[in-house]
Amino acid sequence: MKEAIEQIFKELNELKAQTAKEAEEARIRFLGKKGEITALMEQFRSVAPELKREYGQKLNELKKAATARIEELKSLAEVSAVADAPKEDLTMPGDAFPLGSRHPVSIVRQQIVDIFRKFGYDVAEGPEIEDDYHVFEALNFPPNHPAREMQDTFFVSSGHLNPLLLRTHTSSVQVRTMETQPLPIRVVCPGRVFRNEAISARAHCIFHQVEGLYIDKDVTFADLKQAILLFAREMFGPETEIRMRPSYFPFTEPSAEVDVSCNICHGKGCNICKGTGWLEIMGCGMVDPNVLKASGIDPAQYSGFAFGMGVERIAMLKWQVNDLRHYFENDMRFLGEFATATEV
Ligand code: DAH
Repeated sequence: MKEAIEQIFKELNELKAQTAKEAEEARIRFLGKKGEITALMEQFRSVAPELKREYGQKLNELKKAATARIEELKSLAEVSAVADAPKEDLTMPGDAFPLGSRHPVSIVRQQIVDIFRKFGYDVAEGPEIEDDYHVFEALNFPPNHPAREMQDTFFVSSGHLNPLLLRTHTSSVQVRTMETQPLPIRVVCPGRVFRNEAISARAHCIFHQVEGLYIDKDVTFADLKQAILLFAREMFGPETEIRMRPSYFPFTEPSAEVDVSCNICHGKGCNICKGTGWLEIMGCGMVDPNVLKASGIDPAQYSGFAFGMGVERIAMLKWQVNDLRHYFENDMRFLGEFATATEV
């Protein structure tokens, strides 16, 4: 028995384990139910009484030593398992945070403004809650014009001579600009407008417009046409053609509506342009002399043109969106489609 104990001590000293599994195997081999040390414990029962003390001590030491050694091998194996694990690759790209994107209406409004900025226009803004004078009267609307009815305009206060209302168009900013800025004037006026309309695929009670105004000496309809043509080609592509149809607005004379050649079918006729090959994009005209006079500009010396367009309408045509309401519902699946839309 003595030799057997010594032999095991020796083996324990030389014992190696690369992995936790090998260390466990060693534990079973020495200390398991059928292990070598367990077997010696069994044999101990039949040792002669005078040797029991000596062997008992030795056996206990052996068991302790084996337990300690195997524990040590186990923890060494665990340490080296961690050390050998594949290292994190710190050069790998991180997890991206989902970024929001600009709203398509903001993108198009900015594109429109940027195009006119390139032509030398400034940006002017005015209040959304306006008075009747700036929205209607100074723009030559007759007192009985239908836009002044409750059905078309949201009034904030009523009953006075000059009631407050939510502006129905950004043409009001024309008036404020003419009142305050020195001539010549070249501005675009982006902003929100409000109309008392039932919400449908083609109309909303809140939408956006960009108004334009150019006043100087000798400004002609030809200048207007050229400005609109250049704008249309920047916005819808260099092949774009425009046509102007006679129209009527109280604040311009003569007035026109502008169509661009359909950028989908290139004039052949499709369901976006309803088979006509043309898409309406804005109203425009030469500023009516009454409008110049109302803001203190002498129509004998100065002339000018103005135009106004709906931002949602331009965005619908540009991206072939067929329902205006998509722009206001803020469905992330719809908005996300414009995440990569390019700026001018
Ligand atoms: N203010 C008009 C509207 O709301 C748009 C417009 C038409 C503006 C002709 C203009 C213009 O400046 O000349 O529908």
